[in-house]
Amino acid sequence: SLGEVLTKAADFYRAQLKATPRAVDYLKRRGLTGTVAARFGLGFAPPGWRTLAGVFAAYDDPLLEEAGLVRQKDSGDAAEQQTPAEADRGRYDWFRDRVMFPIRAVGGEVIGFGGRVLTDEKPKYINSPETPLFSKGRELYGLHEARQGLRQRGYALVVEGYMDVVALAQLGFPNAVATLGTACTAEHVQKLFRFSEAVVFSFDGDAAGRRAAGRALEASLPFATDTRSIRFLFLPTEHDPDSFVREKGAAAFEQLVEQAVPLSRQLLDAAAESCDLASAEGRARFLANARPLWTALPDGALKRQLLGELARLASLELADVTELWKLGGSEAPPRSEPGAGASSARPAWRAGPVKAPRSTTRKAPTGPAEQAMRMLMLHSAWWDELSTADHELLHALPPPLGDLCAWLERQLAEHGTTPWAALAEGLAGDPLEPTVRALVTDAALEDEMSVADLQRVVDQLWERKLEAERARLSEIAHTDPDARQRWREVDLEWRRRKGLLRGV
Ligand code: UTP
Ligand code: MN
Repeated sequence: SLGEVLTKAADFYRAQLKATPRAVDYLKRRGLTGTVAARFGLGFAPPGWRTLAGVFAAYDDPLLEEAGLVRQKDSGDAAEQQTPAEADRGRYDWFRDRVMFPIRAVGGEVIGFGGRVLTDEKPKYINSPETPLFSKGRELYGLHEARQGLRQRGYALVVEGYMDVVALAQLGFPNAVATLGTACTAEHVQKLFRFSEAVVFSFDGDAAGRRAAGRALEASLPFATDTRSIRFLFLPTEHDPDSFVREKGAAAFEQLVEQAVPLSRQLLDAAAESCDLASAEGRARFLANARPLWTALPDGALKRQLLGELARLASLELADVTELWKLGGSEAPPRSEPGAGASSARPAWRAGPVKAPRSTTRKAPTGPAEQAMRMLMLHSAWWDELSTADHELLHALPPPLGDLCAWLERQLAEHGTTPWAALAEGLAGDPLEPTVRALVTDAALEDEMSVADLQRVVDQLWERKLEAERARLSEIAHTDPDARQRWREVDLEWRRRKGLLRGV
């Protein structure tokens, strides 16, 4: 079965770690003990392209592919240039030359893997694909290993990285679990509350971490009953939990946990973000932002207290807010109000269509990089729909587009999804303003676009980048074995993406 295949692979990877001094050295350099490595079943996938052919009786067993351990290169490429590795029946190991983190279901069964390079190569981690057993939006890394720790410590500590979970477990926080490189979902939160009545979300002190906190708040609101505790911990900007606890010690981290912000305050802070509470307009906007967040809370004493608090901060009587939100006898505001759907925890202005100021130029630039940045300026909510790899690709665009990307990410971190009109306002006088004016023309404002269009132009960017890299490497591949290896990877990725573009 799928489970047996994954368990067998995990056993193999674990044995390989013991037999590979450079992998053991890497983990030691990261400060891990053999005990904690064993507890998490850490392993090592050797560098070969078909190592698992020596582990499983039949390398062409479809289960290996279904388990996400082996990939089949696109068929139909036979006519194109092939290296020996690919020609070899077109199958290859997905995890190669990586430290392996087995991902286990709560019961302990291996359901997937994360694999980390030993160098600072990209991508740093690759993960199992979604399989019948494994879904990133549902699983939490370390939950099985943390079960006892959760009971012992009385709360779950939610972090972002594999390494953070393992390091924290070693240094006195056996109650840490991680989302698998995805935003925290309602399913994650729901699952956590099966094991603990208290959750502390920890976020890296960077822009991405602050954005992730917004997602976690939205995901947790429906579960914030009166008997539960949900808090938010923010690390200093230069740290993740692993680096923090190693540098400052467990006691300092414990202190951060104690100082973590309760959900009620995080909600108020989120609603008040970029609102000037000293002005009537600012207070009104604060209240409008707070409404969908407050609505997402389950009924209870916390929800009622918060309503009083919201009224106070908005300088209104409780009765005013009740009437304004037409709460009457029932808790739920009418669903016909824009953006007030009880299921949505987004401020009203995040959802609806965007009115935008007009700029003067008519013709918009047409390259995929310009198109991508234009769409993101007009629909900043789409940023979060892109993958981490896509984000990095856009950040690496030549100036001024790369700079614009960094600017946009900062905006999103500070203010959340922002309508184009507000972004344009924020750009006034900025050195990037002329770039943006040239990108977002009147004509562009009238284009009907969807997030699928954005993904398409980003895919075009990938194809171009990979094509260039592939050409560069093929020139040096016959003399340089490393380049040859890299060429194979780039070539595979390039073909995969081309397949995607063709809709295969
Ligand atoms: P981090 O880069 O913070 O991971 O990404 P980390 O665990 O602290 O890694 P180290 O310390 O450099 O070894 C957080 C998580 O995001 C996912 C992984 O789940 C990672 O643990 N991720 C990150 C990926 O899936 N792919 C990547 O390329 C990077
Ligand atoms: Mn780290």
